Amino acid sequence: MADQKIAFIGLGKMGIPMSQNLIKKGYSLTVYNRTKDKTKPLADAGAKVANSPKEAAAGADVIVSMIADDTALHQVSIDPNGAFEGAKSGAIYIDMSTVSPGASAIVDEAAKKKGIKYLRAPVSGSTVLAAAGTLTVFASGPKDAYDKCVDVLGCFGQKVFHVGTGEEARYLKLVMNMMVGLTSAMTAEALTFGEAGGMNWEQMIDIVGASVVASPLIGYKSAMLKARNYAPAFTAAQMAKDFDIMIEAGRSKNIPMPMTALIRQFWATMMATGKGNQDFFSLVQVLEEMAGMKK
Ligand SMILES: NC(=O)c1ccc[n+]([C@@H]2O[C@H](COP(=O)([O-])OP(=O)(O)OC[C@H]3O[C@@H](n4cnc5c(N)ncnc54)[C@H](OP(=O)(O)O)[C@@H]3O)[C@@H](O)[C@H]2O)c1
Repeated sequence: MADQKIAFIGLGKMGIPMSQNLIKKGYSLTVYNRTKDKTKPLADAGAKVANSPKEAAAGADVIVSMIADDTALHQVSIDPNGAFEGAKSGAIYIDMSTVSPGASAIVDEAAKKKGIKYLRAPVSGSTVLAAAGTLTVFASGPKDAYDKCVDVLGCFGQKVFHVGTGEEARYLKLVMNMMVGLTSAMTAEALTFGEAGGMNWEQMIDIVGASVVASPLIGYKSAMLKARNYAPAFTAAQMAKDFDIMIEAGRSKNIPMPMTALIRQFWATMMATGKGNQDFFSLVQVLEEMAGMKK
């Protein structure tokens, strides 16, 4: 249904390629980003540029956001200049960011008051998959709204799921990032151990990648690990934000999460030692430093 008018809010590392995919699929697009410079590639590709989320949402059938965190979610949706002030009744709002179930529930209440249909649709996969349109998308919220947006969501990923009518997708995203974050810590510790034992760095990563512990995630990260190129697809600071959301959601339900709590300390270490804006898989540098093997 490329006749739906779309507003896209948040042109960060993920939002730029995701919104470009909407244009490629023929959607009429209005974009908003807090830092206006970043709208240029979209304007060049034919998107209209709005001066506020409110202005972007005016007349849109579907409003999509891909922003940093809980604060940004509220600023772009429910605040006075937010999308809900400009949106028509019956519009569908899809937030695809990783935010807390609590902040999301506040948006849900506001959406219901305004007659806006609210889908939470976080994604699994990083910038490379966002560019390829092959993210995994899991949505929760009203099923009729989901059915109307399957084609829009299909621009971002080929695997698209409806997982519930409330905050389920927020929890599922946190489940995945918990496993992703813990994988990076496990990998960092094990590789440092192997290196200290004399294993050739590149050969070790290749053989791990061909072994029973291989995973798509370790596969995506093996080239950057071998090259020690820690340009971020997803930063340690972003992972810290997600771990904080998990720990708070777990605390509120009395769910023990000892490993999550422990690994949160490593994201703090990275941020305190100037590595917060590196890719989270560069946690291996911290383990190497702790082992006296500074690289
Ligand atoms: N990167 C990944 O691999 C990945 C994968 C899956 C999910 N995610 C999640 O997707 C979301 C976006 O990630 P990203 O990597 O694209 O982040 P990013 O590059 O840091 O971009 C963040 C975006 O949010 C905007 N923003 C931040 N604070 C704002 C505020 N207070 N008001 C309005 N806009 C605000 C930024 O605007 P400015 O340009 O003005 O700063 C930017 O457009 C995050 O929730 C992240 O956890 C990321």
